[in-house]
Amino acid sequence: MIYSRIIGTGSHLPKKVVTNHDLEKILDTDDQWIRDRTGIRERRISSAEEPTTVLAENACRKALEAADVDPGEIDLLVLGTTTPDLIFPSSACLIQKKLGLPDCGAMDVNAACSGFIYALSIADKFIRCGDAKKVLVCGAETLSSLINWNKRETAVIFGDGAGAMVLEASAEPGILSTHIHANGNYADLLNTEVGVSRGFEGLKDNDGKAELMMKGNEVFKVAVRTLGRIVDETLAANNMDKSELDWLIPHQANLRIISATARKLDMNMEQVVITVDRHGNTSAASVPLALDEAVRDGRIKRGDMLLLEAFGGGFTWGSALIKY
Ligand code: ACO
Repeated sequence: MIYSRIIGTGSHLPKKVVTNHDLEKILDTDDQWIRDRTGIRERRISSAEEPTTVLAENACRKALEAADVDPGEIDLLVLGTTTPDLIFPSSACLIQKKLGLPDCGAMDVNAACSGFIYALSIADKFIRCGDAKKVLVCGAETLSSLINWNKRETAVIFGDGAGAMVLEASAEPGILSTHIHANGNYADLLNTEVGVSRGFEGLKDNDGKAELMMKGNEVFKVAVRTLGRIVDETLAANNMDKSELDWLIPHQANLRIISATARKLDMNMEQVVITVDRHGNTSAASVPLALDEAVRDGRIKRGDMLLLEAFGGGFTWGSALIKY
């Protein structure tokens, strides 16, 4: 039996910190509301010199270094992103060139905030079926490029960043399971309303730029329900009791959503990796950013049982159960 194991992680954040107090100066909002409703205190926002592929390149370099793997050894690059630098070539191809990877497969996966879990699931399958031995998996986003900075409903929520990991084929687990799901019936609750094929006509609100639209309250309710289901599905598929979990590494959309999942698992908040307070919602980057932080500060140790989960636009959702 072949499994995939995480042999190195890395992450990268843009330099600019935007606090809730900074946003109070440009929006009808306040620090207390943002902290009470979301848990966010500040977020990082990319400059023009820090597009998605630059954040991703830096995160991938740190993951390769931590894994002690040469770029030439990588068999596949899978990138979860909703905010690619260009329509094409894919951002994965641009990163492949920056890192000097060989002529390996390189692809973007667009599953909004679940993008990293989707990318991880694909990478794991390539390793399990024997087609790849070392895979670079990344989640990188600049959601700030889709924000209307005049709309408090979305402007306070999102941030930019990237996280990455190197997976290696191993006789020992490793990734025990991944589950991915989608339901396009909810497309109207979280989207950009414009695109390449449909066209960008009619955009006047956000200086003519594409804009992320979210019916936050409705998304919130479905997110809590759905994450409860994916947690049950993951534990049942692995014949595992929730008490066997050491760490929850959730998508960092909202501290209240994260707390609801932790309560369902009877986990105390010390067993949950939280970055939403400092990063905001970094979409596909949030899970690998949180994982890297807890690996590097020594909280997550070899042998620990990790549950990764995410929920986002589509709707999409998914999980990964990992013996680290
Ligand atoms: N500052 C102050 N007041 C605000 C702000 C703000 N930034 N934003 C909204 N409000 C007001 C609203 O106008 C409303 O006022 P009213 O009662 O007078 O009408 C009130 O606050 C409550 O608004 P709600 O939208 O009901 O607030 P809620 O408690 O739902 O919090 C939030 C909003 C934080 C967006 C929450 O709904 C949420 O986290 N939703 C889920 C987001 C998510 O998980 N997205 C998926 C991933 S994203 C992706 O895939 C790209």
